[in-house]
Amino acid sequence: MRKTNVTTAILLENIHQSANARLAEAGLQVERRTGALAGAELRQVLASHDVVGIRSATHLRADDIRSAPELLSIGCFCIGTSQVDLEAATTAGIPVFNAPFSNTRSVAELVVSEAVMLLRRIPEKNTLAHAGKWAKGAAGAFEARGKTIAIVGYGNIGSQVGVLAESMGMRVVYYDVLARLSHGSARAAGSLEEAVSQAEVVTLHVPATPRTRNMIDARILAACKPGAILINASRGSVVDIAALAAALREKRLGGAAIDVFPEEPKTNNDPFVSELQNMPNVLLTPHVGGSTEEAQENIGTEVAAKLAHFLATGGTIGAVNFPEVDPGPLHAPARLLNVHGNAPGALAALNTLLAQEGVNITGQHLQTRGHTGYVVTDLDRVPSDQLMQALRTHAGFARSRLILR
Ligand code: NAI
Repeated sequence: MRKTNVTTAILLENIHQSANARLAEAGLQVERRTGALAGAELRQVLASHDVVGIRSATHLRADDIRSAPELLSIGCFCIGTSQVDLEAATTAGIPVFNAPFSNTRSVAELVVSEAVMLLRRIPEKNTLAHAGKWAKGAAGAFEARGKTIAIVGYGNIGSQVGVLAESMGMRVVYYDVLARLSHGSARAAGSLEEAVSQAEVVTLHVPATPRTRNMIDARILAACKPGAILINASRGSVVDIAALAAALREKRLGGAAIDVFPEEPKTNNDPFVSELQNMPNVLLTPHVGGSTEEAQENIGTEVAAKLAHFLATGGTIGAVNFPEVDPGPLHAPARLLNVHGNAPGALAALNTLLAQEGVNITGQHLQTRGHTGYVVTDLDRVPSDQLMQALRTHAGFARSRLILR
C-alpha cells in the first residue's frame, strides 16, 4: 500500500513527448522506452512503477496486472483499450484512461477532403496523369457545394464531419440510433435507407458492434443514389466489402474512400490485400484517419492530464473501466481512496473503521459501476498505519490508498 503521493511513470512505445511534459509538471519522474514490452520485461517495469503508459502494441493481460499489486493506473495513449484486460484492472482497483477525442478532428478533415477528391474523380485522373495520360474534362466531376452528405453515426466524429461539410455548402443529413443534437442545419433521418437514399456522399462513423457488422450491405448499397460515394473511416466490419466491390464494378456507386478493413496487416511489413485494389476512383488508406502529429500530441497531453489528475486527487472522470468520481482538489489533511466490492455494508464498514479511530470524515464521494464501488473520503487527520493495515487486509476492499496534502 502506498502512503505518499506517487512519483514514477514508465511510458512505452514512443508515446509523444507532450506526455512527459504534462506528467513532469505534475511532479512525476518519467522513464521512456521506444518499443512495446511483453513477458518478464513487462512485469519488471510494471512492478517498479506507479503508472504505465502504453499504446496498442503492449498487451496487459490479467496475470500481468495481477503481478503488479502496487500499480496505480494505466494510461492507454490511443483510442482503443482492447489491449488491456479491463476486468482484471477493475478488480485490482486500477483505473484505465484513454484519449477518445484527440483525433476526432483529424478523421473529420480527411473525410471531407476525400469527399471533394472523389466528387471530382481526382484519384482516377491522378493515376492517369502519373501514367502519362491527359484526362482533361468536366464530365462526372462535381462541386461539393449543394450536395447532400449522409452521416451514419452522428457522434464525436460524425458531428464534426457535418460541421465541416456544411461550411463548404453541403446539406447534412444524419442517421443515428440515439437522439442527437443537430449542429447547424443538419437534419436527422428516420432510417438508414432514408439517409443514404438522398445523399451524393455517404460517410460512416459508427462503432464496431454486432449491430453495425455489415450494416452497409448489398441492400443498403442498392438504396444509395446512382453514382453516390461511400466513405468508411470507422471500422472495417461495418461494410460488406464484396457487396461494395460489386457496386463499384457495376458503376452503381461513383467511388469510395476506405481507411479501415475487415482484415488489416498487423505491421507495415505485412502484405495488404483487398478486393478494392486497382479500382478507379477508389482511395485506399492504411487506417490513418486519426493519424496526425497533432492527434499524437493531443493524445499525449490528454491521457497524461487524466493520469496526473487521478494521482493528485483520486478523480476518475474519463476512466474506461471504473466508477467515475470527481472529488475536486484536496483541502483536507488526507484523502482516502478506497475500491471495494459493490455489496451492501461496504461503505458502512469503511466508515466504522474510520470512526473507531476517531477520524472525522469531512467529505465523501461514492460511485459504483458493476461489481465495483469507489469511494473518495476526505479526513480531518492522517489515519494511523494500523488503520491503513486494517483497510488493506479487509476482505471486502480491493485497494486503499492515501493522498496527503
Ligand atoms: P462516437 O461513439 O462518438 O459516435 C458513434 C455514434 O454512432 C454514436 O452517436 C452512436 O449512437 C452511433 N451508433 C452506434 N451504433 C449505431 C448504429 N447501429 N446505427 C447508427 N448509429 C449508431 O464515436 P466516434 O469517436 O465518433 O468514432 C466513430 C468511429 O470512428 C468508431 O468506430 C471509431 O473506432 C472510428 N475511428 C476511426 C479512426 C481511424 O483512424 N480511421 C480514428 C478514430 C476513430
